[in-house]
Amino acid sequence: MPDPSPQNVKNADGSAWPPVSQAPVGPRPFKLILKDLDEPGYTPDIGCYQRHGGYEALKRALAMPARDLPDGKKLSPQEALREDVKASGLRGRGGAGFSAGLKWSFVDRRSGKPIYLICNADESEPGTFKDRQILHKDPHQLIEGMIISCWANDVKLAYIYIRGEMPHAAKLLNQALKEARAAGFLGKNILGTGYDLEIHVHRGAGAYICGEETGLIESLEGKRAYPRIKPPYFPAVLGLYMCPTIVNNVETLCHVKHIVLMGPGEYAKLGTPNNTGTRIVSLSGDVQQPGYYEIQVGRVTLGELIFDKNFGGGLKPGRSLKAIIPGGSSSKVLKAGEVFKLNRKGADGQMTKVDVPLLDLPYDFDSLQQAGTMSGSSAIIVLDDSRSMVETLGNLSEFYAHESCGQCTPCREGALWLAKATHRLCHGEGRKADADYLTHIAQNIQGRTICAFGEAASWPVLSFVKKFRDEFEAQGAADEAARAKAPGSASSASHPSNATRPAAGSLQTH
Ligand SMILES: Cc1cc2nc3c(=O)[nH]c(=O)nc-3n(C[C@H](O)[C@H](O)[C@H](O)COP(=O)(O)O)c2cc1C
Ligand code: SF4
Repeated sequence: MPDPSPQNVKNADGSAWPPVSQAPVGPRPFKLILKDLDEPGYTPDIGCYQRHGGYEALKRALAMPARDLPDGKKLSPQEALREDVKASGLRGRGGAGFSAGLKWSFVDRRSGKPIYLICNADESEPGTFKDRQILHKDPHQLIEGMIISCWANDVKLAYIYIRGEMPHAAKLLNQALKEARAAGFLGKNILGTGYDLEIHVHRGAGAYICGEETGLIESLEGKRAYPRIKPPYFPAVLGLYMCPTIVNNVETLCHVKHIVLMGPGEYAKLGTPNNTGTRIVSLSGDVQQPGYYEIQVGRVTLGELIFDKNFGGGLKPGRSLKAIIPGGSSSKVLKAGEVFKLNRKGADGQMTKVDVPLLDLPYDFDSLQQAGTMSGSSAIIVLDDSRSMVETLGNLSEFYAHESCGQCTPCREGALWLAKATHRLCHGEGRKADADYLTHIAQNIQGRTICAFGEAASWPVLSFVKKFRDEFEAQGAADEAARAKAPGSASSASHPSNATRPAAGSLQTH
């Protein structure tokens, strides 16, 4: 059986992984989660997984001893593992980038109720196609990460909530669970330790909002995926069946296995401080080599991801960069040429602000946040100068209007108004005032809704209009001018009662 230790991790070019302290810094992929799955001959069955060191991390986790602390206290093996996940700095890979260890520490362990764990395999954010690589090609990596996470959190029943449009992945997962059960890694008395765990696959019906953790929980309970109000319904306290529940993304749970294998200290040397480990980036849009690339968090810049031959390989011939959607469709767009003020630690240890151009932004949680956006689901969509920002926003807004669950009025009505206003701008019926109109509507959605979908729908609008206002105004003005020339239509376009109302369009939602 091959050595499952970190030294056996391979780099992108197949060479052995050097100790972390000597790991390559710069524009290179770094394969930890993707280490095996694209290797020739690698298959999703348990035999192949075990030949590549699979389930050794589980054995190691289950054999973990209790830990004595310097203050005389003792941590149980499960507590010690939870502390390790916290110490590793692992942040959630589903969108918000919240500390996984901290989330686990919020779980109500005194309620006497069962604790559930749900793997969020909905992967619904447009532009994102990373989790499905794991689900299709290496399902046992997820299952091993889940079993370890369940053991650490005293979970006896867990679910994988998978997007309905991924039937093949659901089939593979069910097969992998069967294999894991037969091998004694799942079910009763796992590996003779007395620990019992069952994991079930639950297929969603395919809605963006099913990816939002409380909507997901409602859906799993057999109801319509209406997100719950937080507070009080924080899943760690009142989750599935009103019991304490952990919801983590596919990629997040896979990392737990590597934290066990490497130890939290070594793991935390990957990436950058506060942005540890690796991350799989989905790169799409106007690049030569769209695809999924694993990087050390913060050790590769946006420019390298787009232009380096190891990643996007540059833009299409003759094209120039116009904009980047950096973290899935709901992240705020970044405009070519922007410069951001980022916090940097000086040689004296003091924090100072430095100017960082867009393409030099390290791809990590904190840098993107400081640039006024987010790395979200780590889906980068590149737009070159052939793209109309009006049309791009029209496309996104139509999606959000369609996907609003309809529970809260600002989101249900507002997302539809946004879609109608962008739709008319895309179909020769726009107005110059639409730029202000769109901004006004979006400002009145964000912060006024039950779940973060409100922000997801309004952030693209606010950023597109703010950064590309000239395009929106020019389109509206051109449409007005065309209508003024056409007999009979000018008066209706300029009628005051139409200034704040979306025009009735052919857009159909709900
Ligand atoms: C509208 C919306 C859609 C979401 N879709 C997903 C998704 O498809 N997959 C996912 O992992 N997280 C998604 N999230 C984030 C989840 O609510 C949750 O934060 C995440 O699964 C937690 O996992 P993590 O801490 O491991 O990142 C979504 C959030 C919102 C507001
Ligand atoms: S913000 Fe939108 S998606 Fe979220 S609960 Fe309200 S209506 Fe539903």
